[in-house]
Amino acid sequence: FTHVEGDLAKTLITEDELHAKLEELARQIEDDYEGLDLLLVGVLRGAVMVMADLSRTLNRHIEMDWMAVSSYGSGTVSSGVVRILKDLDSDLTGRNVLIVEDIIDSGLTLSWLKANLESRGAASVEICTMLRKPDALKVQVDVKYCGFDIPNEFVIGYGLDYAEQYRNLRGIAVLAPHVYN
Ligand code: PRP
Ligand code: MN
Ligand code: MG
Repeated sequence: FTHVEGDLAKTLITEDELHAKLEELARQIEDDYEGLDLLLVGVLRGAVMVMADLSRTLNRHIEMDWMAVSSYGSGTVSSGVVRILKDLDSDLTGRNVLIVEDIIDSGLTLSWLKANLESRGAASVEICTMLRKPDALKVQVDVKYCGFDIPNEFVIGYGLDYAEQYRNLRGIAVLAPHVYN
C-alpha cells in the first residue's frame, strides 16, 4: 500500500496485533457460549473485516447475518436517530446474538441497535467491537468484548473508512490531517 502511505500519520495497530487480539476474544467467546447457538450480526460496512477474521478464528459453529444502518443522516453531528437500511434476514426469537462492530465512537449506533435487537425476542444480545473511543463512555452501552480502547483520533483501515476509502488497509492507522483539511 505504498500509494496511500503519504496519507497516514502513523500506524496505530498492526495486522499482527489485530489478529492476536482476535485470538484472545475468540477464546473468551468460545467459553462464554459453550453449548449455545451463536448468531454473529455484522454492521455493514465497517464490520466486514472484523467479521471475516473473528468468524474464522472461532472454533465452533456460528451463523452470520448482516444489517446496514444509517446513524447520521446527511449531517455530521449525530442526532441519535438511526434508520435501518438493510434489516436482518434471521428471526431472532430465542437466539444468542453477538453484534460485531469495527468501532464504537459516540456509542449512539450501538446503544440503539442493541435495544432494537433485544426487542425482537433474542435470548441474549451482546456486543463485540474491535475499537472503542473514549466518547463512547458518555452513552450507556454495555460492550462485552472490546479489542482496543484508542485515543480520539481519526482512524482508518481494517474496515474503517474516510469518505469510503482506506477500508482495505490491513492495520489501523491515523489519517494525516492534510487529507481532510
Ligand atoms: C461507523 C462505524 C460504526 C459507527 C460508530 O459506521 O463503523 O458503525 O460509525 O459510530 P457511533 O458509535 O458514533 O454511533 P458508519 O456510519 O461510518 O458506516 P460504515 O460502517 O459503512 O463506514
Ligand atoms: Mn459502521
Ligand atoms: Mg464510515
